[in-house]
Amino acid sequence: MDKLGELRESIEMLEDILNYAYEGYVLVDPQGRIVKMNYDKLLGIKEEDAIGKHVEDVIENTRMHIVVKTGLKEIRDVQRIQGHDMITNRIPIIKENKIIGAVGTVLFKDISDIKELAHQLLDLQSKINKYKGEIERIEGTKYSFDNIITINPKMEYLKKVGRMAAETNSTVLITGESGTGKELFAHAIHRASYRKGEAFIAINCAAIPRDLLESELFGYDRGAFTGAKKEGKTGKFEHASGGTIFLDEIGNMPMEMQAKILRVLESKEFERIGSNKKLSFEARVIAATNENIEEAIKKGRFREDLYYRLNVITMEIPPLRDRIEDVEPLAENILDYLLHEMRLGEKEVSQEAMRYLKMYNWPGNVRELRNVLERAINLATGKTILPEHLPERLLNGMGHVIGYMEDIVPLRDVVADAEVNAIRKAIILAKGNKSLAAEKLGIHRTALYKKIDKYKISDV
Ligand SMILES: Nc1ncnc2c1ncn2[C@@H]1O[C@H](COP(=O)(O)OP(=O)(O)O)[C@@H](O)[C@H]1O
Ligand SMILES: [Mg+2]
Repeated sequence: MDKLGELRESIEMLEDILNYAYEGYVLVDPQGRIVKMNYDKLLGIKEEDAIGKHVEDVIENTRMHIVVKTGLKEIRDVQRIQGHDMITNRIPIIKENKIIGAVGTVLFKDISDIKELAHQLLDLQSKINKYKGEIERIEGTKYSFDNIITINPKMEYLKKVGRMAAETNSTVLITGESGTGKELFAHAIHRASYRKGEAFIAINCAAIPRDLLESELFGYDRGAFTGAKKEGKTGKFEHASGGTIFLDEIGNMPMEMQAKILRVLESKEFERIGSNKKLSFEARVIAATNENIEEAIKKGRFREDLYYRLNVITMEIPPLRDRIEDVEPLAENILDYLLHEMRLGEKEVSQEAMRYLKMYNWPGNVRELRNVLERAINLATGKTILPEHLPERLLNGMGHVIGYMEDIVPLRDVVADAEVNAIRKAIILAKGNKSLAAEKLGIHRTALYKKIDKYKISDV
Protein backbone atom coordinates (compact mmCIF):
# COMPACT_ATOMS: atom_id res chain seq x y z
CA MET A 1 0.00 0.00 0.00
CA ASP A 2 1.29 3.48 -0.81
CA LYS A 3 1.95 6.20 1.79
CA LEU A 4 -1.27 8.01 1.03
CA GLY A 5 -3.30 4.85 1.32
CA GLU A 6 -1.74 4.08 4.65
CA LEU A 7 -2.47 7.58 5.87
CA ARG A 8 -6.06 7.40 4.74
CA GLU A 9 -6.50 4.09 6.49
CA SER A 10 -5.14 5.37 9.78
CA ILE A 11 -7.35 8.46 9.56
CA GLU A 12 -10.37 6.23 9.03
CA MET A 13 -9.35 4.21 12.05
CA LEU A 14 -9.02 7.34 14.16
CA GLU A 15 -12.43 8.50 13.00
CA ASP A 16 -13.89 5.18 14.04
CA ILE A 17 -12.30 5.52 17.44
CA LEU A 18 -13.63 9.05 17.87
CA ASN A 19 -17.07 7.97 16.78
CA TYR A 20 -17.18 5.10 19.21
CA ALA A 21 -15.54 6.85 22.12
CA TYR A 22 -17.58 10.04 22.14
CA GLU A 23 -21.12 11.13 21.64
CA GLY A 24 -19.75 13.70 19.25
CA TYR A 25 -16.62 15.63 18.37
CA VAL A 26 -15.45 18.68 16.51
CA LEU A 27 -12.07 19.70 15.15
CA VAL A 28 -11.31 23.38 14.51
CA ASP A 29 -8.41 25.26 12.95
CA PRO A 30 -6.54 28.15 14.67
CA GLN A 31 -9.19 30.58 13.41
CA GLY A 32 -11.99 28.57 14.96
CA ARG A 33 -13.26 27.20 11.68
CA ILE A 34 -14.64 23.67 11.62
CA VAL A 35 -12.32 21.17 9.94
CA LYS A 36 -14.11 17.96 10.94
CA MET A 37 -17.05 17.11 13.06
CA ASN A 38 -19.54 14.48 13.94
CA TYR A 39 -22.51 16.07 15.64
CA ASP A 40 -24.97 14.45 13.32
CA LYS A 41 -26.25 11.92 15.77
CA LEU A 42 -26.23 14.33 18.66
CA LEU A 43 -27.48 17.59 17.18
CA GLY A 44 -28.71 16.59 13.76
CA ILE A 45 -26.10 18.80 12.07
CA LYS A 46 -24.55 17.31 8.94
CA GLU A 47 -20.77 17.55 8.61
CA GLU A 48 -20.89 18.83 5.04
CA ASP A 49 -23.08 21.76 6.15
CA ALA A 50 -20.65 22.71 8.86
CA ILE A 51 -17.15 22.38 7.44
CA GLY A 52 -15.46 25.73 6.87
CA LYS A 53 -17.96 27.62 9.04
CA HIS A 54 -16.94 29.35 12.24
CA VAL A 55 -17.66 27.08 15.17
CA GLU A 56 -19.76 29.76 16.95
CA ASP A 57 -22.14 29.80 14.02
CA VAL A 58 -22.74 26.06 14.25
CA ILE A 59 -22.51 25.03 17.92
CA GLU A 60 -24.34 26.80 20.72
CA ASN A 61 -22.28 28.10 23.66
CA THR A 62 -19.07 26.74 22.20
CA ARG A 63 -15.67 27.84 23.51
CA MET A 64 -13.56 26.13 20.86
CA HIS A 65 -12.59 29.49 19.31
CA ILE A 66 -11.35 30.58 22.77
CA VAL A 67 -9.34 27.42 23.37
CA VAL A 68 -7.46 27.84 20.08
CA LYS A 69 -6.51 31.31 21.35
CA THR A 70 -5.57 30.51 24.96
CA GLY A 71 -4.07 27.06 24.32
CA LEU A 72 -5.55 25.97 27.64
CA LYS A 73 -7.49 22.76 27.79
CA GLU A 74 -10.92 22.68 29.36
CA ILE A 75 -11.84 19.35 30.85
CA ARG A 76 -15.31 18.22 31.81
CA ASP A 77 -16.98 21.53 31.21
CA VAL A 78 -20.76 21.73 31.20
CA GLN A 79 -22.13 23.16 27.99
CA ARG A 80 -25.78 23.76 27.26
CA ILE A 81 -26.71 22.71 23.75
CA GLN A 82 -30.27 22.46 22.45
CA GLY A 83 -31.60 22.51 25.98
CA HIS A 84 -29.34 19.75 27.27
CA ASP A 85 -26.44 20.15 29.68
CA MET A 86 -23.60 18.23 28.04
CA ILE A 87 -20.23 17.35 29.44
CA THR A 88 -17.45 18.37 27.08
CA ASN A 89 -13.68 18.37 26.82
CA ARG A 90 -11.82 20.96 24.75
CA ILE A 91 -8.20 20.23 24.04
CA PRO A 92 -5.84 22.45 22.03
CA ILE A 93 -3.59 20.68 19.53
CA ILE A 94 -0.10 22.05 19.86
CA LYS A 95 2.75 21.27 17.52
CA GLU A 96 6.21 22.79 17.79
CA ASN A 97 4.90 25.37 20.25
CA LYS A 98 2.17 26.52 17.91
CA ILE A 99 -1.53 26.00 18.32
CA ILE A 100 -2.63 24.30 15.14
CA GLY A 101 -6.19 23.63 16.20
CA ALA A 102 -8.37 22.15 18.89
CA VAL A 103 -10.57 19.12 19.35
CA GLY A 104 -13.77 19.20 21.28
CA THR A 105 -15.57 16.08 22.44
CA VAL A 106 -18.88 15.43 24.14
CA LEU A 107 -18.54 12.79 26.83
CA PHE A 108 -22.11 12.69 28.01
CA LYS A 109 -24.89 14.10 25.99
CA ASP A 110 -26.86 14.90 29.11
CA ILE A 111 -25.82 15.65 32.62
CA SER A 112 -28.74 13.55 33.76
CA ASP A 113 -26.83 10.56 32.32
CA ILE A 114 -24.08 11.28 34.79
CA LYS A 115 -26.49 11.92 37.58
CA GLU A 116 -27.98 8.54 36.85
CA LEU A 117 -24.53 6.96 36.81
CA ALA A 118 -23.53 8.74 39.98
CA HIS A 119 -26.72 7.52 41.57
CA GLN A 120 -25.96 3.96 40.61
CA LEU A 121 -22.43 4.33 41.96
CA LEU A 122 -23.63 5.79 45.24
CA ASP A 123 -26.16 3.03 45.47
CA LEU A 124 -23.46 0.40 44.93
CA GLN A 125 -21.18 2.13 47.41
CA SER A 126 -23.81 2.12 50.09
CA LYS A 127 -24.58 -1.52 49.37
CA ILE A 128 -20.89 -2.35 49.69
CA ASN A 129 -20.70 -0.47 52.97
CA LYS A 130 -23.72 -2.30 54.23
CA TYR A 131 -22.21 -5.69 53.38
CA LYS A 132 -18.87 -4.66 54.85
CA GLY A 133 -20.60 -3.77 58.08
CA GLU A 134 -22.49 -7.03 57.94
CA ILE A 135 -19.31 -9.04 57.47
CA GLU A 136 -17.57 -7.19 60.27
CA ARG A 137 -20.54 -7.78 62.49
CA ILE A 138 -20.71 -11.48 61.71
CA GLU A 139 -16.99 -11.99 62.08
CA GLY A 140 -16.82 -9.75 65.10
CA THR A 141 -19.49 -11.62 66.97
CA LYS A 142 -18.18 -14.96 65.87
CA TYR A 143 -14.67 -14.53 67.10
CA SER A 144 -14.48 -12.11 69.96
CA PHE A 145 -13.68 -13.03 73.56
CA ASP A 146 -17.31 -12.36 74.44
CA ASN A 147 -18.27 -15.32 72.33
CA ILE A 148 -16.06 -17.74 74.17
CA ILE A 149 -18.73 -19.17 76.40
CA THR A 150 -17.63 -20.35 79.80
CA ILE A 151 -18.41 -20.19 83.51
CA ASN A 152 -15.28 -22.09 84.48
CA PRO A 153 -12.77 -20.08 86.55
CA LYS A 154 -9.73 -21.42 84.73
CA MET A 155 -11.26 -20.54 81.37
CA GLU A 156 -12.24 -17.10 82.64
CA TYR A 157 -8.66 -16.62 83.69
CA LEU A 158 -7.50 -17.72 80.22
CA LYS A 159 -9.79 -15.16 78.60
CA LYS A 160 -8.09 -12.53 80.74
CA VAL A 161 -4.67 -13.79 79.69
CA GLY A 162 -5.81 -13.72 76.08
CA ARG A 163 -7.07 -10.13 76.35
CA MET A 164 -3.76 -9.12 77.84
CA ALA A 165 -1.80 -11.02 75.20
CA ALA A 166 -3.83 -9.19 72.54
CA GLU A 167 -2.36 -5.91 73.66
CA THR A 168 1.18 -7.13 73.16
CA ASN A 169 3.03 -8.31 70.09
CA SER A 170 4.24 -11.47 71.77
CA THR A 171 4.01 -14.91 70.29
CA VAL A 172 1.25 -16.96 71.85
CA LEU A 173 1.27 -20.72 72.12
CA ILE A 174 -2.14 -22.30 72.65
CA THR A 175 -2.25 -25.91 73.71
CA GLY A 176 -5.18 -28.18 74.36
CA GLU A 177 -6.99 -31.20 72.98
CA SER A 178 -8.67 -31.04 69.62
CA GLY A 179 -11.97 -29.16 69.72
CA THR A 180 -11.31 -27.23 72.93
CA GLY A 181 -11.43 -23.85 71.18
CA LYS A 182 -7.80 -23.11 70.35
CA GLU A 183 -8.64 -21.52 67.02
CA LEU A 184 -11.43 -19.55 68.65
CA PHE A 185 -8.95 -18.09 71.11
CA ALA A 186 -6.54 -17.26 68.29
CA HIS A 187 -9.29 -15.34 66.47
CA ALA A 188 -10.32 -13.56 69.63
CA ILE A 189 -6.76 -12.43 70.29
CA HIS A 190 -6.45 -11.13 66.74
CA ARG A 191 -9.76 -9.29 66.96
CA ALA A 192 -8.86 -7.70 70.27
CA SER A 193 -5.50 -6.50 68.99
CA TYR A 194 -4.65 -3.36 67.04
CA ARG A 195 -4.12 -5.68 64.07
CA LYS A 196 -7.84 -6.47 63.86
CA GLY A 197 -8.27 -4.59 60.59
CA GLU A 198 -5.50 -6.60 58.96
CA ALA A 199 -5.42 -10.19 57.79
CA PHE A 200 -5.77 -13.23 59.99
CA ILE A 201 -4.04 -16.02 58.10
CA ALA A 202 -4.46 -19.56 59.39
CA ILE A 203 -2.34 -22.41 58.22
CA ASN A 204 -2.79 -25.99 59.28
CA CYS A 205 0.72 -27.38 59.38
CA ALA A 206 -0.56 -30.95 59.64
CA ALA A 207 -2.88 -30.75 56.64
CA ILE A 208 -0.41 -29.47 54.06
CA PRO A 209 1.86 -32.02 52.39
CA ARG A 210 5.45 -31.69 53.52
CA ASP A 211 6.91 -30.62 50.19
CA LEU A 212 4.24 -27.96 49.64
CA LEU A 213 4.54 -26.43 53.08
CA GLU A 214 7.55 -24.29 52.32
CA SER A 215 6.02 -22.66 49.25
CA GLU A 216 2.71 -22.23 51.08
CA LEU A 217 4.46 -20.35 53.87
CA PHE A 218 7.07 -18.38 51.98
CA GLY A 219 5.75 -18.25 48.42
CA TYR A 220 8.03 -18.42 45.41
CA ASP A 221 9.38 -16.26 42.65
CA ARG A 222 8.51 -16.75 38.99
CA GLY A 223 10.22 -19.81 37.62
CA ALA A 224 11.60 -20.88 41.00
CA PHE A 225 11.18 -24.55 40.12
CA THR A 226 9.57 -26.71 37.46
CA GLY A 227 5.83 -26.71 37.89
CA ALA A 228 5.88 -23.33 39.60
CA LYS A 229 3.29 -20.85 38.43
CA LYS A 230 4.67 -18.39 35.89
CA GLU A 231 3.80 -15.31 37.86
CA GLY A 232 5.13 -16.68 41.16
CA LYS A 233 3.10 -17.02 44.33
CA THR A 234 2.64 -15.03 47.50
CA GLY A 235 3.14 -17.07 50.64
CA LYS A 236 1.14 -16.96 53.86
CA PHE A 237 3.87 -15.07 55.65
CA GLU A 238 3.58 -12.31 53.10
CA HIS A 239 -0.23 -12.34 53.18
CA ALA A 240 -0.20 -12.03 56.94
CA SER A 241 1.88 -8.87 56.86
CA GLY A 242 0.66 -6.42 59.47
CA GLY A 243 -1.83 -8.96 60.77
CA THR A 244 -1.71 -12.30 62.52
CA ILE A 245 -0.48 -15.66 61.33
CA PHE A 246 -1.98 -18.70 63.02
CA LEU A 247 0.21 -21.78 62.81
CA ASP A 248 -2.20 -24.54 63.70
CA GLU A 249 -1.00 -28.04 64.62
CA ILE A 250 2.53 -26.80 64.86
CA GLY A 251 3.48 -29.98 66.68
CA ASN A 252 3.24 -31.77 63.35
CA MET A 253 5.56 -29.47 61.49
CA PRO A 254 8.53 -31.26 59.87
CA MET A 255 11.86 -30.62 61.59
CA GLU A 256 13.48 -28.84 58.65
CA MET A 257 10.51 -26.44 58.44
CA GLN A 258 10.83 -25.78 62.16
CA ALA A 259 14.37 -24.57 61.59
CA LYS A 260 13.20 -22.21 58.85
CA ILE A 261 10.35 -20.83 60.93
CA LEU A 262 12.70 -20.23 63.82
CA ARG A 263 15.00 -18.28 61.55
CA VAL A 264 12.13 -16.06 60.39
CA LEU A 265 10.99 -15.41 63.93
CA GLU A 266 14.48 -14.46 65.03
CA SER A 267 15.56 -12.38 62.03
CA LYS A 268 12.10 -10.95 61.27
CA GLU A 269 12.73 -11.44 57.59
CA PHE A 270 12.34 -14.11 54.97
CA GLU A 271 12.70 -14.74 51.26
CA ARG A 272 10.42 -16.27 48.68
CA ILE A 273 11.75 -19.54 47.30
CA GLY A 274 14.08 -18.82 44.40
CA SER A 275 14.61 -15.19 45.41
CA ASN A 276 17.21 -13.53 47.54
CA LYS A 277 15.20 -10.40 48.14
CA LYS A 278 14.65 -10.03 51.86
CA LEU A 279 11.05 -9.40 52.85
CA SER A 280 10.41 -8.15 56.34
CA PHE A 281 8.17 -10.27 58.50
CA GLU A 282 5.78 -8.14 60.48
CA ALA A 283 2.99 -10.29 61.81
CA ARG A 284 2.02 -11.62 65.19
CA VAL A 285 2.44 -15.35 65.48
CA ILE A 286 -0.07 -17.51 67.28
CA ALA A 287 0.74 -21.20 67.31
CA ALA A 288 -1.47 -24.05 68.46
CA THR A 289 -1.00 -27.71 69.07
CA ASN A 290 -2.83 -30.63 70.58
CA GLU A 291 0.40 -32.55 70.92
CA ASN A 292 2.41 -32.60 74.08
CA ILE A 293 5.34 -30.59 72.76
CA GLU A 294 7.59 -31.41 75.67
CA GLU A 295 7.11 -35.09 74.86
CA ALA A 296 7.84 -34.36 71.21
CA ILE A 297 11.04 -32.56 72.20
CA LYS A 298 12.14 -35.58 74.23
CA LYS A 299 11.44 -37.81 71.25
CA GLY A 300 13.45 -35.49 69.01
CA ARG A 301 10.44 -34.54 66.90
CA PHE A 302 10.31 -30.90 67.93
CA ARG A 303 13.08 -28.34 68.23
CA GLU A 304 13.58 -27.11 71.74
CA ASP A 305 14.79 -23.68 70.58
CA LEU A 306 11.63 -23.14 68.51
CA TYR A 307 9.53 -24.23 71.47
CA TYR A 308 11.12 -21.58 73.68
CA ARG A 309 10.75 -19.00 70.94
CA LEU A 310 7.02 -19.74 70.63
CA ASN A 311 6.39 -20.22 74.28
CA VAL A 312 6.34 -16.55 75.29
CA ILE A 313 2.73 -16.56 76.39
CA THR A 314 1.23 -20.02 76.80
CA MET A 315 -2.44 -20.78 77.15
CA GLU A 316 -3.48 -24.28 78.06
CA ILE A 317 -7.13 -24.78 77.24
CA PRO A 318 -8.64 -27.44 79.52
CA PRO A 319 -10.66 -30.27 77.97
CA LEU A 320 -14.43 -30.04 78.31
CA ARG A 321 -14.55 -32.98 80.72
CA ASP A 322 -12.54 -30.94 83.19
CA ARG A 323 -15.03 -28.08 83.07
CA ILE A 324 -18.27 -29.99 82.86
CA GLU A 325 -20.12 -26.92 84.22
CA ASP A 326 -19.56 -25.38 80.80
CA VAL A 327 -21.63 -28.04 79.04
CA GLU A 328 -24.98 -26.43 79.78
CA PRO A 329 -24.18 -22.82 78.82
CA LEU A 330 -22.25 -24.06 75.78
CA ALA A 331 -25.08 -26.35 74.70
CA GLU A 332 -27.62 -23.53 74.98
CA ASN A 333 -25.42 -21.12 73.10
CA ILE A 334 -24.49 -23.52 70.33
CA LEU A 335 -28.10 -24.65 69.98
CA ASP A 336 -29.26 -21.05 69.49
CA TYR A 337 -26.53 -20.50 66.98
CA LEU A 338 -27.33 -23.64 64.99
CA LEU A 339 -31.08 -23.00 64.99
CA HIS A 340 -30.46 -19.50 63.72
CA GLU A 341 -28.08 -20.75 61.06
CA MET A 342 -30.48 -23.46 59.90
CA ARG A 343 -33.37 -20.97 60.04
CA LEU A 344 -35.30 -23.20 62.39
CA GLY A 345 -37.65 -22.14 65.16
CA GLU A 346 -36.96 -22.60 68.83
CA LYS A 347 -35.89 -25.92 70.27
CA GLU A 348 -34.64 -26.78 73.71
CA VAL A 349 -32.69 -29.54 75.40
CA SER A 350 -34.81 -31.49 77.88
CA GLN A 351 -33.51 -31.80 81.41
CA GLU A 352 -32.97 -35.50 80.96
CA ALA A 353 -30.98 -35.07 77.76
CA MET A 354 -28.93 -32.35 79.46
CA ARG A 355 -28.09 -34.84 82.22
CA TYR A 356 -26.63 -37.19 79.63
CA LEU A 357 -24.65 -34.37 78.07
CA LYS A 358 -23.16 -33.59 81.47
CA MET A 359 -22.28 -37.23 82.19
CA TYR A 360 -20.33 -37.77 79.03
CA ASN A 361 -16.56 -37.32 78.93
CA TRP A 362 -16.39 -35.49 75.57
CA PRO A 363 -13.18 -36.77 73.98
CA GLY A 364 -13.91 -34.48 71.01
CA ASN A 365 -14.60 -31.53 73.33
CA VAL A 366 -16.73 -28.56 72.21
CA ARG A 367 -16.54 -29.62 68.57
CA GLU A 368 -18.11 -32.97 69.48
CA LEU A 369 -20.78 -31.19 71.53
CA ARG A 370 -21.62 -29.08 68.52
CA ASN A 371 -21.88 -32.13 66.28
CA VAL A 372 -24.07 -33.96 68.80
CA LEU A 373 -26.40 -30.96 68.95
CA GLU A 374 -26.54 -30.59 65.19
CA ARG A 375 -27.50 -34.24 64.85
CA ALA A 376 -30.10 -33.89 67.62
CA ILE A 377 -31.70 -30.87 65.94
CA ASN A 378 -32.13 -32.91 62.78
CA LEU A 379 -33.57 -35.89 64.61
CA ALA A 380 -35.94 -34.05 66.94
CA THR A 381 -39.17 -33.36 65.11
CA GLY A 382 -40.74 -31.54 68.05
CA LYS A 383 -39.53 -28.60 70.05
CA THR A 384 -37.65 -30.64 72.62
CA ILE A 385 -34.41 -32.54 72.32
CA LEU A 386 -34.82 -35.80 74.20
CA PRO A 387 -32.27 -38.47 75.18
CA GLU A 388 -33.43 -40.55 72.22
CA HIS A 389 -32.02 -37.87 69.92
CA LEU A 390 -28.54 -38.30 71.37
CA PRO A 391 -25.99 -40.77 70.01
CA GLU A 392 -25.77 -44.16 71.65
CA ARG A 393 -22.33 -43.49 73.13
CA LEU A 394 -23.76 -40.77 75.35
CA LEU A 395 -26.60 -42.93 76.63
CA ASN A 396 -24.96 -46.21 77.49
CA GLY A 397 -23.14 -44.79 80.46
CA MET A 398 -19.89 -45.87 78.88
CA GLY A 399 -18.85 -42.32 78.18
CA HIS A 400 -15.68 -42.62 80.13
CA VAL A 401 -14.65 -45.79 78.37
CA ILE A 402 -15.03 -44.24 74.98
CA GLY A 403 -11.77 -42.47 74.74
CA TYR A 404 -8.38 -43.63 73.66
CA MET A 405 -6.77 -47.07 74.09
CA GLU A 406 -3.93 -45.32 75.91
CA ASP A 407 -6.41 -44.18 78.55
CA ILE A 408 -7.10 -47.75 79.66
CA VAL A 409 -5.20 -48.41 82.88
CA PRO A 410 -4.76 -51.65 84.82
CA LEU A 411 -7.51 -52.31 87.35
CA ARG A 412 -5.07 -52.40 90.25
CA ASP A 413 -4.10 -48.79 89.44
CA VAL A 414 -7.74 -47.81 89.43
CA VAL A 415 -8.20 -49.47 92.83
CA ALA A 416 -5.02 -47.87 94.14
CA ASP A 417 -6.15 -44.42 92.96
CA ALA A 418 -9.51 -44.88 94.62
CA GLU A 419 -7.86 -45.99 97.86
CA VAL A 420 -5.45 -43.08 97.90
CA ASN A 421 -8.26 -40.61 97.33
CA ALA A 422 -10.48 -42.12 100.01
CA ILE A 423 -7.66 -42.26 102.56
CA ARG A 424 -6.55 -38.69 101.94
CA LYS A 425 -10.09 -37.42 102.17
CA ALA A 426 -10.70 -39.34 105.42
CA ILE A 427 -7.51 -38.05 107.04
CA ILE A 428 -8.24 -34.48 106.01
CA LEU A 429 -11.82 -34.61 107.26
CA ALA A 430 -10.66 -36.23 110.52
CA LYS A 431 -8.21 -33.34 110.85
CA GLY A 432 -5.21 -35.67 110.93
CA ASN A 433 -6.65 -38.06 113.52
CA LYS A 434 -5.66 -41.38 111.91
CA SER A 435 -7.53 -43.58 114.38
CA LEU A 436 -10.76 -41.75 113.61
CA ALA A 437 -10.00 -41.90 109.88
CA ALA A 438 -9.38 -45.67 110.08
CA GLU A 439 -12.61 -46.15 112.00
CA LYS A 440 -14.62 -44.23 109.40
CA LEU A 441 -12.94 -46.13 106.58
CA GLY A 442 -13.87 -49.37 108.32
CA ILE A 443 -10.32 -50.72 108.54
CA HIS A 444 -7.89 -51.32 111.37
CA ARG A 445 -5.50 -48.54 112.35
CA THR A 446 -2.45 -50.67 111.45
CA ALA A 447 -3.97 -51.48 108.06
CA LEU A 448 -4.33 -47.73 107.47
CA TYR A 449 -0.69 -47.13 108.39
CA LYS A 450 0.38 -49.90 106.02
CA LYS A 451 -1.53 -48.32 103.16
CA ILE A 452 -0.18 -44.85 103.94
CA ASP A 453 3.25 -46.37 103.75
CA LYS A 454 2.53 -48.34 100.58
CA TYR A 455 1.08 -45.38 98.67
CA LYS A 456 3.57 -42.95 100.19
CA ILE A 457 0.79 -40.63 101.35
CA SER A 458 2.73 -37.99 103.22
CA ASP A 459 1.23 -34.63 102.53
CA VAL A 460 -1.88 -34.87 104.72
N1 LIG B 1 -15.82 -21.70 74.66
C1 LIG B 1 -16.46 -21.82 73.50
N2 LIG B 1 -17.59 -21.12 73.28
C2 LIG B 1 -18.25 -21.26 72.13
N3 LIG B 1 -17.88 -22.07 71.12
C3 LIG B 1 -16.76 -22.79 71.26
C4 LIG B 1 -15.98 -22.71 72.45
N4 LIG B 1 -14.92 -23.51 72.34
C5 LIG B 1 -15.02 -24.09 71.13
N5 LIG B 1 -16.13 -23.67 70.48
C6 LIG B 1 -16.57 -24.12 69.15
O1 LIG B 1 -16.13 -25.47 69.01
C7 LIG B 1 -15.60 -25.71 67.72
C8 LIG B 1 -14.15 -26.14 67.79
O2 LIG B 1 -13.34 -25.06 68.19
P1 LIG B 1 -11.88 -24.81 67.60
O3 LIG B 1 -11.45 -23.47 68.06
O4 LIG B 1 -11.86 -25.09 66.15
O5 LIG B 1 -11.07 -25.94 68.38
P2 LIG B 1 -9.57 -26.43 68.20
O6 LIG B 1 -8.85 -25.42 67.35
O7 LIG B 1 -9.04 -26.46 69.61
O8 LIG B 1 -9.62 -27.78 67.60
C9 LIG B 1 -15.81 -24.44 66.95
O9 LIG B 1 -17.02 -24.54 66.26
C10 LIG B 1 -15.89 -23.38 68.02
O10 LIG B 1 -16.60 -22.27 67.59
MG1 LIG C 1 -8.16 -26.59 65.42
